Amino acid sequence: MTKETVEDLRRTSLASVEAAATIEELDNARRELLGKKGSLTQILKGLGGVDPELRKELGSLVNQLKGELDGAIELRRKALSSAKLDQALEREWIDVSLPVHSRIALADNGGLHPLTRVQRELEHIFRGLGFTVVDGPEVETDYCNFEALNIPDTHPARDMQDTFFTTCGHLLRTHTSSIQVRSLQRMKPPLRIVAPGRCFRYERLDASHEHTFYQMEGMMIDRHVTVGHLIYFMRTLLREIFGGEQKIRLRPGYFPFVEPGFELDIWFQGRWLELLPCGLVHPKVLEFGGIDSSEWNGFAFGLGLSRLVMSRFQIDDIRHLQSGDLRFAKQFR
Ligand code: PHE
Repeated sequence: MTKETVEDLRRTSLASVEAAATIEELDNARRELLGKKGSLTQILKGLGGVDPELRKELGSLVNQLKGELDGAIELRRKALSSAKLDQALEREWIDVSLPVHSRIALADNGGLHPLTRVQRELEHIFRGLGFTVVDGPEVETDYCNFEALNIPDTHPARDMQDTFFTTCGHLLRTHTSSIQVRSLQRMKPPLRIVAPGRCFRYERLDASHEHTFYQMEGMMIDRHVTVGHLIYFMRTLLREIFGGEQKIRLRPGYFPFVEPGFELDIWFQGRWLELLPCGLVHPKVLEFGGIDSSEWNGFAFGLGLSRLVMSRFQIDDIRHLQSGDLRFAKQFR
């Protein structure tokens, strides 16, 4: 055994570590070098028969080589396992931002329901008039839906707005007017809000009555608000929505939460359409909301959103709107 023997082994062994392409190959190479019968182990064993002078020299060379090999194997192992991880990541990677290529998505790009379209148009118009768009819950308290709107428990106005009740005493709101109450509680006057939303009533169903329908509430509270302001805003709204000045009429209408109260009708296709109940906010409603009615007043309206959509698109049956029938919905894209 000579120095060359060790030198040769260094070259071949380092090369075989470098050549390992997988963790398994690396383990094999390691076994062949450092295992019980490995070439380096053999050399170490063989040192016993070598001349003592040379043995010392060769022994330290072999130990040095062993250290070198250990380091090289460790390095290679790290490289191989991170490559393995990279490959797995490459293989298993999914782009969650990619749109779904379902057959439906490819065949049909979808569109907005006519209710949504008109609702968004209205929101846009009112934002331009300084109104804030607000929201309220569909499951309401008796207090917000009735009590604080000046409709006490025994009031006959409740009969016209029978609805669905939960077992814990709440109800599905019968109108978006409950959001008047919530807004008064939360916001300080002066305020201007619109609140579109779904409402529910216990109805006998026909072409113009549905248990589920949409309204858009509006309210403006300020100083010295008059019926003139109310009419101005209603006219503006109708002009924007129908694309031109509309013929309207104002009739007295009774709602416990406005005084005076009106029905604002518009002349549409040869007849008067009842579309916009409204009035000046009843002082009691302001007081319920903690607002001083000697300083502030305002108007409120409850636009029949489902009705507006029906007249705008000439839909003859309110039940189409919630039918979920795509043949219906697709006509308005
Ligand atoms: N909330 C009333 C209804 O649904 C409509 C309304 C709203 C009337 C605001 C006046 C003022 O019948």
